[in-house]
Amino acid sequence: MKKTVLLLSTLLLTSLAHADQAMVAKKTIKAFGGALKQELVKAMKEGGPMNAISTCNIKAPELTMQTNKDSSAKISRTSLKNRNPGNAPNEWQRAVLLKFEQRKAAGEDVMKMAYSEVVGDEFRFMKAIPTDDVCLKCHGSNIDPKVTALLDKLYPGDKARGYKKGDIRGAFYITMPK
Ligand code: HEC
Repeated sequence: MKKTVLLLSTLLLTSLAHADQAMVAKKTIKAFGGALKQELVKAMKEGGPMNAISTCNIKAPELTMQTNKDSSAKISRTSLKNRNPGNAPNEWQRAVLLKFEQRKAAGEDVMKMAYSEVVGDEFRFMKAIPTDDVCLKCHGSNIDPKVTALLDKLYPGDKARGYKKGDIRGAFYITMPK
């Protein structure tokens, strides 16, 4: 009896901690993703995609560094078809991204799609990023030739084109100590 209670409370504590961490991860992503999108929309309004590319090119890495400086949670972005070679998925991330594609094919809502796992002493959390209309200006299949030229120059190995609205553009990735 005692043993069962102990086991149960350990399980409960573990899953509570896990749920807590998932909540922190979700909050961090919401704040980071929100800030990123705000910068993007502002830059698009001010000067269209040519202007906004510098937001993605400079502001995104800057915001990432800022977020990571103030927290034990480390955030980044990744994708099966990445634009920045620094965002290429590692093996674990690739497996999760492939699972996301399967889950989407099975009808799951991309907006809410997420996955978490404890690996060694690390809590890992990934959240799918859906493609919406504004993304197509730089990630779609009908990109303005001037924008294409600038993207070609900045990202010679760019794979992040040809997306449609509703596709999984990639994912936010967060790790924190268990
Ligand atoms: C103005 C052009 C532009 C628009 C619009 C745009 N992006 Fe990007 N995106 C970029 C650039 C440039 C990068 C590379 C950033 C870097 O160097 O870190 C990028 C990178 C990314 C990445 C990181 C993975 C990778 O491919 O390197 C994700 C995820 C992403 N974009 C999602 C989106 C989503 C979702 C939207 C719409 C809400 C969007 N982008 C709209 C230009 C754009």
